[in-house]
Amino acid sequence: MKTINSISGMRKKALKWRQEGLSIALVPTMGFFHEGHLSLMRTAKSKADLVVVSLFVNPAQFGPNEDLSRYPRDFERDSKLAERQGVGCLFCPDAGDIYPPGFQTWIRVEGLSHGLCGASRPEHFRGVATIVAKLLIIVQPDMAIFGQKDFQQLRVIRRMVRDLNMPVNIIAHPIVREPDGLAMSSRNIYLDAKERESALSLFQALRLAEKMVAKGCRSGPEVIQAIRNHIQSFDNTKIDYIFLGDPESLEECREIVGEALLALAVWVGKTRLIDNTLLTQ
Ligand code: PAJ
Repeated sequence: MKTINSISGMRKKALKWRQEGLSIALVPTMGFFHEGHLSLMRTAKSKADLVVVSLFVNPAQFGPNEDLSRYPRDFERDSKLAERQGVGCLFCPDAGDIYPPGFQTWIRVEGLSHGLCGASRPEHFRGVATIVAKLLIIVQPDMAIFGQKDFQQLRVIRRMVRDLNMPVNIIAHPIVREPDGLAMSSRNIYLDAKERESALSLFQALRLAEKMVAKGCRSGPEVIQAIRNHIQSFDNTKIDYIFLGDPESLEECREIVGEALLALAVWVGKTRLIDNTLLTQ
């Protein structure tokens, strides 16, 4: 596995592979790999000749009071894990090269970025869309893989790719969970033992909603109230949002008809966790 730090080096390498007729899959990440990331890499490997994993803790997607400075990092471990999944190249650019002095070009995906996580993290999706666009331009992969854990992110990226006619296939990967159901996240490392117990409230709340719908409940407010009660019964939890709505437009709905997205963001102590599921009638 090659580690490349320079943008021009990455560009040259990817161009060479394309000229050799090899297909490329990109897996964008911020590192501190867990089984979710690794599973994305293996899927990428099964679909393309070469896998490029980008590892870049993107400052532009963190708000001023968020966890950019303490975001977990372990390059040595990440590098070994990526290599074991058959990754061809780890692309780790410098923040100063990605956002050089005078940088002022941003990508904003308007409607889809406003609700859910966008409401409490106002510039977050502008940062995500801009870095993903830059990575797609630098690597020019045939496909890029994203996890459904960040459902809104996936929607924003799909919209951007469509709106900007980017010639790349966006592939969604299902949520990878711990054996007890907690969605894997680099941020789970922040949780102490007591918080780890409370963190399970998100997954349990989603399952509770699925059961209600399976039993015939169609009322959005009823489902949301049941979830709220469940999460609040755990120590040290604070709900940021509970969203129930259309998985395509991300518009809220009061009645569950067809397929509905149920997405949650919950603070457990000082850690903000997200999770989601698709409810089907
Ligand atoms: P990061 O949080 O490192 O996640 C990288 C990729 O892994 C994303 O596509 C995310 O959805 C996926 N992922 C994370 N946890 C997952 C899980 N439990 N199951 C399945 N997939 C999971 O998301 C980002 O980085 C950044 O916003 C990025 C897209 C790299 C732009 O900076």
